[in-house]
Amino acid sequence: MPIMEPYRIKVVEPIPITTRAHRERALAAAGYNPFNLAATDVTIDLLSDSGTGALSAEQQAAGMRGDETYAGARSYHRFHDVVSELTGYPYAFPVHQGRAAERILFTALIKPGQISVSNTHFDTTRANVEIVGGEAVDLPCRAADDLDSDAPFKGDIDLEALEAVLSSRRDVAVVLITITNNGFGGQPVSMGNIKAAGEIARRHGVPFFLDAARFAENAWLVTQREPGYENHTPRQVAEEAFRLSDGCVASLKKDAIVHIGGLLGLRDPELAAKCESLLIATEGFRTYGGLSGRDLEMLAQGLREVTDPEYLRARADATSYVASLAAAAGVDSVRPTGVHAVYLNAGRLLTHLPPSQFPGFALASELYLAGGIRCAELGSLYLGELDDVGELLKPAPYELVRLAIPRRVYTQSHLEYVGETLAEIAKEPERVPGYRLTHAPKLLRHFNCKLAPV
Ligand code: F0G
Repeated sequence: MPIMEPYRIKVVEPIPITTRAHRERALAAAGYNPFNLAATDVTIDLLSDSGTGALSAEQQAAGMRGDETYAGARSYHRFHDVVSELTGYPYAFPVHQGRAAERILFTALIKPGQISVSNTHFDTTRANVEIVGGEAVDLPCRAADDLDSDAPFKGDIDLEALEAVLSSRRDVAVVLITITNNGFGGQPVSMGNIKAAGEIARRHGVPFFLDAARFAENAWLVTQREPGYENHTPRQVAEEAFRLSDGCVASLKKDAIVHIGGLLGLRDPELAAKCESLLIATEGFRTYGGLSGRDLEMLAQGLREVTDPEYLRARADATSYVASLAAAAGVDSVRPTGVHAVYLNAGRLLTHLPPSQFPGFALASELYLAGGIRCAELGSLYLGELDDVGELLKPAPYELVRLAIPRRVYTQSHLEYVGETLAEIAKEPERVPGYRLTHAPKLLRHFNCKLAPV
């Protein structure tokens, strides 16, 4: 079955078609770090699904209605109405992106020495917990250990471990469930798990939050995989999930299909007052939070469009299609396939490379060299423990490569091209060279490091 997108293309943007020789020069000049590549050197960009989606005609039209009044703009009220209908939160602060919401919430909520417990903290989320003196504890469920199993909700938090942490002497400031679990394979969290985790948190008097960056994609997978939700719409599932929580932080660069924007949603008036002061001091007044009226309008419209079941089906099909092309080429990926990305198992493909030569990074580089495809490593370079000179002390549990699929951007032919490029590499995997670090900064290593082929 072809992927049947419920939209057609009205505006196009050229993408660079380059030669291997050009890409070899570009990657070497970038210190082999894909974050240093210029967009003009990239043919298919699968580095992130964040802020990279295509706007709809209705979003562009909404943008034209943007009201740029400093305080109380009409656009804010439209944003607020759409968000409160979706989430039920009485307080909905716009922020410029997800990590701004994280910083504000954790500054207000977490005292030094307290912990934040999650299924998996995204890296900025973890950094924002640590910046305020807290500790981020990840409790992924056991099913997540097996990359190949088809367990439907490998994004769940381990409920027993959560109960144990909350019953211990540890001082827990917040329980945060990331939907979907981007740090682990883009796997969804079941509604059963959200409900149970919320009940445990409430019983222990701890606030229960969602990191809702991909709330609609999580809701779609719930309708497909969770008994009892077959006849729900993704919208109904999303509304229920928000209503089970005390608030959310959300990067709206994903499931509001816009280029910039975020949300801090809250129920508690005291916490909202604290966050509002921080928002005004660092982001902007409460009715714009660092965004323009145009952005707020496009966000409101995107939040309406994203739960369309036909859109979500086509998007999920596109991602599964990439995973099936990879499988046909003999390249395994984390199962079952989620919606925003395919996580290739590079460790299993490049068995000739030890973790110290960063097989995930090697596969990501080869995808760029062979086809101009940019993507991100999620393996020992990103998650491993290194010493001061960049030697690997402790490898990551897996060597993965994330192919993140931007929303409404690439056609089936683009995806086929990705599959063909991967198949070419997989024919002779032993030809892919390993890499060593030549520059390994302590902070935010994967953004700033430099490497060279071994
Ligand atoms: N939470 C999750 C689950 C995310 O995936 C991201 C961003 C954030 C928070 C931070 O949001 O970027 O708007 O400040 N993820 C992007 C990615 C960068 O490529 O996965 P932000």
